[in-house]
Amino acid sequence: MVALVLAFSPVLRADEGMWLPSLISGRIADMQAKGFKLGAEDIYSVNQASLKDAVLLFGGGCTGEVVSPEGLVLTNHHCGYYHIGRHSSVEHDYLKDGFWAMTRDAELPCPGLTVSFLERMEDVTAVVLKGVPDDAVPAWRDSVVLARSQALVKEACAEGGLQASVEPLYYGNQYFLFVYKVYRDIRLVGAPPSSIGKFGGDTDNWMWPRHTGDFSMFRIYAGKDNEPADYAPSNVPFKPRKFFKISTSGVKEGDFTFIYGNPGSTQEYITGEAVRWIGEVADPERIALRDLRLGIIKSYMAQSQELRIRYSSRAASVANAWKKWQGESLGIRRMKTVASKKAYEDRFRKWSAGTDYEGVVDRIDSLLRLREPYEFAAYYYTEAASQLELPRFAKSLVTVLSEMPDRVAASGESFFKNYSQPMDKEMFVEMMSMFEKRVPESFKPSYFKDCLEKYGSVSAWADAFFAESVFADPARVAALIQADLPALKQDPAYLFDNAFSTWYHKDLMPVLKRLAPEVFLLQRDYMRGQMMMGGDRDFYPDANLTLRVAYGHVEGYSPSDGVYYTPVSTLKGVIEKDNPDIFDYDIPQSLRDLYAKSVAEDPAGVGMANVPVCFLATNHTTGGNSGSPVINAEGNLIGINFDRVWEGTMSDIVFDPDYCRNISLDIRYLLFVVKELGHADHLLNEMTFVN
Ligand code: ARG
Ligand code: GLU
Repeated sequence: MVALVLAFSPVLRADEGMWLPSLISGRIADMQAKGFKLGAEDIYSVNQASLKDAVLLFGGGCTGEVVSPEGLVLTNHHCGYYHIGRHSSVEHDYLKDGFWAMTRDAELPCPGLTVSFLERMEDVTAVVLKGVPDDAVPAWRDSVVLARSQALVKEACAEGGLQASVEPLYYGNQYFLFVYKVYRDIRLVGAPPSSIGKFGGDTDNWMWPRHTGDFSMFRIYAGKDNEPADYAPSNVPFKPRKFFKISTSGVKEGDFTFIYGNPGSTQEYITGEAVRWIGEVADPERIALRDLRLGIIKSYMAQSQELRIRYSSRAASVANAWKKWQGESLGIRRMKTVASKKAYEDRFRKWSAGTDYEGVVDRIDSLLRLREPYEFAAYYYTEAASQLELPRFAKSLVTVLSEMPDRVAASGESFFKNYSQPMDKEMFVEMMSMFEKRVPESFKPSYFKDCLEKYGSVSAWADAFFAESVFADPARVAALIQADLPALKQDPAYLFDNAFSTWYHKDLMPVLKRLAPEVFLLQRDYMRGQMMMGGDRDFYPDANLTLRVAYGHVEGYSPSDGVYYTPVSTLKGVIEKDNPDIFDYDIPQSLRDLYAKSVAEDPAGVGMANVPVCFLATNHTTGGNSGSPVINAEGNLIGINFDRVWEGTMSDIVFDPDYCRNISLDIRYLLFVVKELGHADHLLNEMTFVN
């Protein structure tokens, strides 16, 4: 039965799928038929250097690639953002102005940042599940799987310098061991100004046409033995087993492309009921909550430059999933995925009658229905109650006061520096009003009901809350001493945090946690049943932040009737969008000047108009694929993946070849920016260029 799971169906479908590199020989004929010129061993090999040795997990959730024999790494600007920001100050604002290390000495250490190379991956199903009957008691099964996984990890890491994990694939029908080498002296080498790296901001995020130069550059340092080492000035640039050569010949519609990276999470094999929940309840509810939050944040950001800066990164992170969910929910509706899943389930019911798989969909769905109200309520913690700033501050300040009382004044100062009470209060009123309306009576915590009863309305409650809380007053916070602790624990902000987090952790999470493994095990059966039944689909394991290969081709799309998007964008479009009065579209003056000069000096008046910026392709990607190398038929680097189009974001659940497109930075835009704006030719000189 495990062998059956391994067998790929021979049916070749459009570009959907995230494949395991070690099993890529099962796809290689299809890849080659679609234009790929290399073989399976070029992609993944345990015997020789292969492309996998140039791909890495960047930090905890992005991908990066090595592009020089001296450990130079490319990833996205939004993946490097935190580290670029950490090195920024008023005197040298690298986020705003960009950063280019002109010498090796000027490369900036990034404490805490790691990159992980996959050494090998191995099917360990036979070891992990040896002698475990299919109908084993779930808790016992879990403990056996855990113990054997730990033993495998220990054995794999015996050599030292390695990290490993055993991950379930196909809901635990298979287990794979992943062994990584983790480098921890990583230095910032280059980043464009945010007005290039984040060009278009949240307005253009998840959209085409796109003109974002979303890249940044780092370097891996190692000990003299080329092995991972803690940061030390004496460390030397890492010598990779393999690095990508860079193709300067560009892309055109139809070209084969392939993405090597670490997609985070997909759910391609869930039931129609699960899809209905996501598309019709979970997404819309969370979108509505974020509509409110974003509306409030944006209205304050519009009031002053200071507030805009203060809240811009929060707005960006709220807006990112908000926009993605809108595309996902629309896509599910447009594709009628609930209906098509249900029709599929009817066929599955017929096929499975009298087998071990009979009734599995109904069992899954009845567990899902049990879980749904808890999940719904949980959104009102994660997306509403826990988002209010004063309660969160109260909780953390009480901890500081009891553990490091000398840090109270500093904590208070840093909180109030970034705090707008009018905004928090508006948020309180909106979030608690939604809570009152939307959370079913039987799920509301008694604290909430008591407060409403006591004050009569949410707004009266909010007035009292902010007037009475000590934590709302900078002077009183600065004067707090440990003897105040008992009284502080009766403060409305502290009580609020406590009541809602107890509600979440004691009333909601235990149910969700109890149901999760039960659903997982049933999904395992359903997964296996789907594979046995077969049909017109290829089964690739859902993404789980392990290394995958996706392949497709450069292609535009039609988002709506009468509109067709071509797949390539150029500098001309950057200039068209440029607007000094709109923050997200205000390009550096140097780029404006450079462009104007190029046009003026060109008798044809074209100048740099055709410098390529981004392109679209049909590769199946998701969050975590940010920074992934985009590779051409010859195995050379042509771009860096950084986004998808929002009309295709349901590809985490269901892939539509007509709408699902990944968005990549054209590598030639990176070369252009490094050379023309960064004047950092020495970085380009490290790279190897091919046609
Ligand atoms: N949508 C991309 C991703 O999911 C980029 C996000 C960062 N950019 C932004 N404007 N918020 O990570
Ligand atoms: N921007 C996403 C990331 O950070 C990639 C976009 C997506 O495909 O979800 O991984």
